[in-house]
Amino acid sequence: MAARARAGRGGGAGAGGRGAARAPRGARAAAAAAKRVCLLPGDGIGPEISAVAVEVLEAAGRLEGAEFAFSEAPVGGAAIDAAGEPLPASTLEACRASDAVLLAAIGGYKWDTLPAKERPERGLLALRAGLDCFANLRPAYVLPQLADASSLKSEVVSGVDIMVVRELVGGIYFGEPRGFGEDAATGARTGFNTMVYTEPEIERIARVAFDIAQKRQGRLVSVDKSNVLEVSQLWREVVSRIGADAGNAGVDLSHMYVDNAAMQLIRNPKQFDTVVTGNIFGDILSDAAAMLTGSIGMLPSASISESGPGVYEPVHGSAPDIAGQDRANPLAMVLSAAMMCRYGLDLPGVADRMEAAVSLVLDQGFRTGDIMQEGKQEVGCKRMGEALLAALEEANVKA
Ligand code: IPM
Ligand code: MG
Repeated sequence: MAARARAGRGGGAGAGGRGAARAPRGARAAAAAAKRVCLLPGDGIGPEISAVAVEVLEAAGRLEGAEFAFSEAPVGGAAIDAAGEPLPASTLEACRASDAVLLAAIGGYKWDTLPAKERPERGLLALRAGLDCFANLRPAYVLPQLADASSLKSEVVSGVDIMVVRELVGGIYFGEPRGFGEDAATGARTGFNTMVYTEPEIERIARVAFDIAQKRQGRLVSVDKSNVLEVSQLWREVVSRIGADAGNAGVDLSHMYVDNAAMQLIRNPKQFDTVVTGNIFGDILSDAAAMLTGSIGMLPSASISESGPGVYEPVHGSAPDIAGQDRANPLAMVLSAAMMCRYGLDLPGVADRMEAAVSLVLDQGFRTGDIMQEGKQEVGCKRMGEALLAALEEANVKA
């Protein structure tokens, strides 16, 4: 299935079950084959939040008559310890043999001193590239229950609902040549990278972005630095050309320089609906967009390919400072599993249920430490998982 088609479903839905139409109970009970999910718990809080996500997935799946067959493989620091490299061939193989990959987080102090080439992050980049997951969807929406959690005024952020579509396997992250050298004139050491995009690379990410914008509010901002960079001039030209396709007539396309986009995101984030940009600009802007929502611990992401399995992972990292203490927030991981069901496994009913459960536990006042507010009940990762399971049942009874 093309990324285009898969990305289509519920492109603007975000989480929290907003407007989620629940499928009738058992509607999808038809004996569908179990969906093969390759679970990559990774490092730090990864295993804790993975355990919660698996339980919630299975429970939501049962309510919809959907089954999952999980395999598990090491990635990041865990894989360095087990196999000497952050993405062993066997892990990539297990991912390729699955319908979708659910990744928690990678990295930790223990591996911070390794040379760049051997660090856990390399495993993540190799995984994205190895599966050709070129389209990274990073929704940033402010849940009404958490509007006060943002460091910006709540009137600036409440109602924010942005989808950042980031190109993920090209640009300066992967461009050649790269490396270290010596300045010919002075002999000074140099470090260099290459920011390069081919036309087809820009075309395919632009198509995904237009498709998603169409299913959202129909506004697409393409972010570049075409006042300075040739690579951005090509980017702008190609995105405009795709925008002129008959099928994209309904989308209002505009262009913004990346520095202005960074400012506008903080100044008036509600002006944005869908944003499309290259790898490094997307890396930076998606973190900024995430923080509008108050907690990066709430945000999921999806990285999809043309035809193979996608990678679904929370935007946050492995939080080694709180690993193993039952203090992690599992909600972004659960919402990532919901995105997996929606975009990668064609199980929108399961996604709706999981998102509704997240919304319900927040309504009920459960909060992990990172999103704790006065008057709410602070719980750990496991307890949040139990609350989610109860919420699934409760929502099911009411439905
Ligand atoms: C992200 C991260 C990664 C990236 C790092 C960990 C390599 O920041 O997913 O945004 O830069 O893409
Ligand atoms: Mg990043």
